[in-house]
Amino acid sequence: MNLKDKRILITGAAGGIGRLVCLLLANKGADLLLADRPGEALEALLTEINGSGGKARVLHTNLLEQDAGESLAQAAQEAGGVDVLINLAGILSFRLFQNENAENIQRMWQVNVIAPMQLTRALLPAMLARGSGRVVNIGSIFGSIAFVGFATYSANKFAVRGLSEALRRELDGTGVDVTYIAPRYTKTPINAGAAARMSEALKMNMDDPDLVATNIVRAIEKDAKDYYIGFPECLFVRLNAILPRVVDCAMRKQNAQIREYARNE
Ligand SMILES: NC(=O)c1ccc[n+]([C@@H]2O[C@H](COP(=O)([O-])OP(=O)(O)OC[C@H]3O[C@@H](n4cnc5c(N)ncnc54)[C@H](OP(=O)(O)O)[C@@H]3O)[C@@H](O)[C@H]2O)c1
Repeated sequence: MNLKDKRILITGAAGGIGRLVCLLLANKGADLLLADRPGEALEALLTEINGSGGKARVLHTNLLEQDAGESLAQAAQEAGGVDVLINLAGILSFRLFQNENAENIQRMWQVNVIAPMQLTRALLPAMLARGSGRVVNIGSIFGSIAFVGFATYSANKFAVRGLSEALRRELDGTGVDVTYIAPRYTKTPINAGAAARMSEALKMNMDDPDLVATNIVRAIEKDAKDYYIGFPECLFVRLNAILPRVVDCAMRKQNAQIREYARNE
């Protein structure tokens, strides 16, 4: 896909990965709708893009609100419509599942799964009527390999991957397609606290957000179907799908350590 003049709606626009994706897309001539909660980071991003010759507008949204997906879709249609939707906003929790609280489980499903589903559903009719469009869902390696301490987040990202696969098959032949992108651990604010300490202690592979943003834009330009970022994680995803008990054994030793970090959250 040539990104020039494409109208792109992106949630989580001002976040660690989102901001860099937006800057890259703006450089390629995309016409951006920056969706995020109101804040200085969002305003600064808007100023930076428009100040350097790019095209961007802001759409405020709080994806925790029950009808956020529908409202954001309506605002985007009123702002001129959407060629590409990037569902990128996300929240994470790292703790033993027995210590997870019920309210947080709901919050995570709302932001990570329900709001993007609502938003996608609401934008699809216009894309289908035009016979073109792309939905880009940002998943995670944890959406293929579920991880100790990340039960809710893993379940959310498995759902995002399931949605992407089902939708891609459902939309086959319509001109509208789905790209699912799965980053591995990336150094951004989502990983603050114990998740960051655990990842450092276990010497997990970590990516800089600019590398991840570059890969996200590349995946969109290539009209990729599924795009996994990072080796050997992309290989483990395949191994886990075919031989999950082998991966159970490989992870057993580090799981005890991860449980210790997750226990204190
Ligand atoms: N970083 C990683 O290790 C990693 C790995 C794999 C996948 N991912 C995925 O990559 C995506 C981006 O994550 P990131 O690393 O860039 O995290 P981040 O820096 O924390 O950014 C998350 C973005 O989502 C927004 N957001 C959170 N709650 C929201 C809400 N209720 N309404 C509207 N926007 C909300 C945040 O806005 P506020 O600033 O207002 O909270 C922020 O802009 C997520 O889907 C994440 O799951 C990240």
